[in-house]
This record gives sequence, structure tokens and C-alpha cells, in this order.
Amino acid sequence: MCGIIAVTGKRASVEVLTSGLHRLEYRGYDSAGVVVHDRGGGFSRYRAAGGTKSLVTLDKEASAHVGEIYAGIGHTRWATHGAPTLFNAHPHLDCNERVAIVHNGIVENYRALKEELLAKGHVFSSETDTEVIAHLIEVELRGGATLTQAVASVASRMRGAMSFVVASVDEPGVLVGFKRMAPMVLGTDGESWFLASDIPAILDRASTFFHVDDEHVLTVGPDGATMADLSLTPVPLVEFHVSWTLESAERSGFDDFMSKEIFEQPAALRDTLAGRLDADRSLMLDVTTFDADELARINKVFIVACGTSYHAGMVAKYAIEHWTKLPVELDISSEFRYRDPVVDERTLVVAVSQSGETLDTLAALHEAKNLGAQTLAVCNVVGSSMARLADAVLYTRAGPEVGVAATKTHTAQIGALMMLALELARVRGYLYPQEVAELYGQLQEIPAHMDEALKLWDTLADLARKHSGISRFYFIGRHVGYPVALEGALKLKEISYLPAEGYPAGELKHGPIAMLDENAVVFVIATRTRLHEKLLANVEEVRARGSEVVLIGNPIDAGVARAGESFVGVPQVHPLFAPMVDVIPLQMFAYHTARGMGYDVDRPRNLAKTVTVE
Ligand code: G6P
Repeated sequence: MCGIIAVTGKRASVEVLTSGLHRLEYRGYDSAGVVVHDRGGGFSRYRAAGGTKSLVTLDKEASAHVGEIYAGIGHTRWATHGAPTLFNAHPHLDCNERVAIVHNGIVENYRALKEELLAKGHVFSSETDTEVIAHLIEVELRGGATLTQAVASVASRMRGAMSFVVASVDEPGVLVGFKRMAPMVLGTDGESWFLASDIPAILDRASTFFHVDDEHVLTVGPDGATMADLSLTPVPLVEFHVSWTLESAERSGFDDFMSKEIFEQPAALRDTLAGRLDADRSLMLDVTTFDADELARINKVFIVACGTSYHAGMVAKYAIEHWTKLPVELDISSEFRYRDPVVDERTLVVAVSQSGETLDTLAALHEAKNLGAQTLAVCNVVGSSMARLADAVLYTRAGPEVGVAATKTHTAQIGALMMLALELARVRGYLYPQEVAELYGQLQEIPAHMDEALKLWDTLADLARKHSGISRFYFIGRHVGYPVALEGALKLKEISYLPAEGYPAGELKHGPIAMLDENAVVFVIATRTRLHEKLLANVEEVRARGSEVVLIGNPIDAGVARAGESFVGVPQVHPLFAPMVDVIPLQMFAYHTARGMGYDVDRPRNLAKTVTVE
């Protein structure tokens, strides 16, 4: 949450900043702002508040008034400390307007630092935690420090996860960044340097990308870029390869990113599965420090994730337990960290995350490493913090996902986790190689089945119209249909703001059934699993309460729908792979419902795509 962009060098311009901010908007859109170091020798600051309109205002204002610049920093905000007003919009300045900062994350001890600064006579012009950093740097600069020295010294005084970039009028063209468990990437085209919270923001500018390490200070300016630890000992920059194309980060003719990404799911899954097996049919991880023997010694799997990634992890629990007989624990990342999880060196902790930056999951991964576990990250962003921290990485190759509500990365995550489940079964000897090969074959057919499910686009549009007056939705399923139900409800809540609850169908009678009446619609994930008949009995319980039923089922079961009920037929696949197909109509229902209500599906209110605060 919050997006940062910065540029220095020959190509520095306001347009680099504002176009980058447009691409970072999914990280927050409460307000936006830029500070540029103009050739007149001072700073010019332009800021705008007002949700998604703020960037448009900023474009008009800043682009009209600023000419040639040395360097600039920009920010799009997801408010934490202080309302989303103009005064709280970044960049923030020090007392003398000689230091400017853009910041992502939280300074947890900002109150104490602010009191200390107020006692020394500093004047604050915002309610943000960020502003303390500008004032602390001001103090250091007044004491004779360079901007780099000031950042190194101030970084160790602050608690919490964060990344920020600062500029000073006294060092034209120099930008200094700091990163601690919050994303920041460095790129260059050979003439200019770009710093950003995420790769897509600078994908059209930079040709070479570098990692920025946690607890390191990065200085970029006319003489190039250098990184140093907090004692200012230089550390070499490490380049990494980015295969994403600019087109993959554009809407390419679709009305919005969400619909584009829904339709990209077959390709995303195909890419994720492609070329993964070596000659002896073992899974090739993208990065690994442990081998098959070590994997075979694992006696427990722990999956940690948030949001939609958590639902993918939940599907994996069913598959891993079924194929490997290993116990699998599943935890919401923010719970895992604080509840004494039972983890040791024979536990494989799998962090599932699209961004690889979600703070709670990143912190859970750190915790798992501290406890001595083997760790594996399943993430979509190459070079992300989790990918760099984990002992092994299995990338989803879904391409950049811009819509805040995750779609293509969810199904790609399930695909990746299915491969992991099969690999664990293989190394543990629970499946014969030919069984693994047979299941792999079925997995590789899933993208074609997804293509079939995508043909239901208009059917789901009609269904969304039919239910446009309904204000309460329930999604129920059993076995792997349960995580699909949770995901269907989450999608609807996220983008249409309608009350929607996902529930295990068998548990309905222990509470939620009390809520059912003729004003509720109940989606049932009724594709074939071994609990199919029991599920249909649960559907009877719903019908008896007068609620309208929508069945997501396989065409052979179309007859189970009663007159007046809706039946959405999706291809029948292996039950453990079904979530990748069954979730598609639910994504489309949420999409059409939200669009029908006039909402911006790519930028749902109050949400950010990458949550880098606790
Ligand atoms: C946010 C996003 C969700 C996402 C979750 C986890 O809440 O809005 O779409 O599922 O974070 O993100 P991750 O990047 O860790 O998968």
C-alpha cells in the first residue's frame, strides 16, 4: 500500500513520475503528489486529494508548471496515519522545505519521535507518521551529514516496516532510498535511474533492474547508484531479469484490468505449469537450497498467506494431505506470527503471495526461518522480498496483475501448489511416477477447461442482472468447494461491497441457516467431489428456507436444478483441480455485479493490492 516512484538523470521528468504513479495506483489512491527538484535550484511540490481523481488533477497541475528537472519523487497514498486530505498527501517536507520524502509503510514509534522533535521546536504540517522522517533528516543535515549519512543514521532510529526515498535541495539530482521489509526496486536505462515500489511502474523506462536489500541505503544521482549497509560499508548491486512486457501491464483493449486478467487465466496457468519437470519427472523449483532428499524428510507442511492467496493455500491443504499423507496446517499470516506455531526443521513452511511483499506473510516467513523451518515462497513477482528470503521459490508466471481483486494469480497459485503437492507425493513415494505423470497430464489440460468456463461470460452477466436487487449472498461448498465458496464471497465483497459470506455447506445448519430467507441468494459449488450427495442434501436445507439457489455444477448434473433455479455448467475435471475452473464463474459474477452497480472494479474502495502494513 502506497506507491513510490523516483527518478534522476537525463530523462528525469514530471511525466515519468505521473505515468509511474498511474501504474502504481493499485497500491492506493487516496491522494497523490510529486516533488521535483527544478533547475531553478529549489523544490516544487504538487499534491492532490480525492480518490482516483487525484492523479488526473496532479497531471494537469504539475505537468503544466514544471519544466526541466534534476530529479523528482512521487507518491500515491493509501491512508494509515491521518485522513486522506491534501495536507496529509505525500511528499512531505521538513521545517525549512529543504528535505522532501515519499514513504510506504509505518513508523511505529513515530509518536515518541514526534514529541522529541516538537520539543525541539519543529513544526509539523501533517498528521502522518512520515513527516517525522523529514524532520529527523533535517536535524542530521544541519549537523553536517550528507543525505546518505542522514538516512543511514535516521533509519536505525525508526521501528516498523517501510521504504522511503528522500531528496534535499542541497544535493541536486541526488535521491536516497531506504528499504526495510517493504518493496523497492531500482532500474536504469543507462542515462537515468528509477526507484519504484513495483516493477510495472518503471517497466517502460528501465532496461536493467537491481535488487534493493533490506536495511540498506541506496544513493542514486549523476554519478550512478550505490548501495551501502547502515554503517555505510558499500554493498554491490545485484541485477535481476524481468521478463514482463509493457503490454502485459496495459489494459490492451479491455474495459479494465480485472476483465483482462480473468481472461488471461488459461495462459497464466499454462505458463506456470510449462517446462517444470526434468527428465526424472521431478519438479524444478525456480530457486532452491534444498534437494529432494531434504524434501522427503519433511514431516509437516505449514501454509501461510492472506486474502485470495490464503484460499489458494486452502485448496493445497486438501491436495497435499490426500496425495502425501503429510499433515498440513494452514494459517492466516497475521495469526501465524503471534500464536507460537509448532514448527521445526522438518516443517516446510510455504508462503503463498502474489506480490511477495505482503507484510504479514513476509513477517511469517521470517518467523518460520527463525524457527528453523525449511521455507518455500510461491509468488508472482520475481525478486520480491519473499522470493529473496525463502530457501526455495516456485514462481507463478501469471504476468503482472494490476486489478486489486486477484484473479489470474489465484488460479496460477493453485496450479503451482498442485505441482508442489505432486512433488511431495513423488519424493515421499506415496504416488508411483506414472500416477504423478498421469495427474500432471490432467493438470495441463486445465487451461483448456478454463477456456470453456470463460465462455460463460454473458451467462454470468445475465445472472448478475437477474440478482441485481439482492442484498445478501451466501456461497457454500464442501471439500475443495469450500475454499472456492470463500473466494466467491470475497470477490463479491471486494468489488461490489455487498454482504457475502462463504461457508462450508455442512456447517450451514450450525448458524448461518438462521439468516436464510427469500431475500438471500445462495451460490452452491456443486461440481463433482466425493461429497456430492451430501452437498445436495445441504442444498435441500437451503431450498426449504425459501432462498434462491444458483448451482455451479458439471453439465451431467444439470438435472439437479429445480424449476426457477439457475444452473451454471462448468467442465468436469479432477476434483482436486476443480477450484481452478469453478472459481471462474464466481469471479465473473462479482465482476458483472460490481460493474452493474457502477463501481470501478480495478480500484475498490479502501483496498490496496499489496498490503505492506500490519
Ligand atoms: C490484498 C489484496 C488481495 C490479496 C491479498 C494478499 O488484500 O487486495 O487481493 O489477495 O492482499 O496479497 P498477496 O500479494 O500476498 O497475495
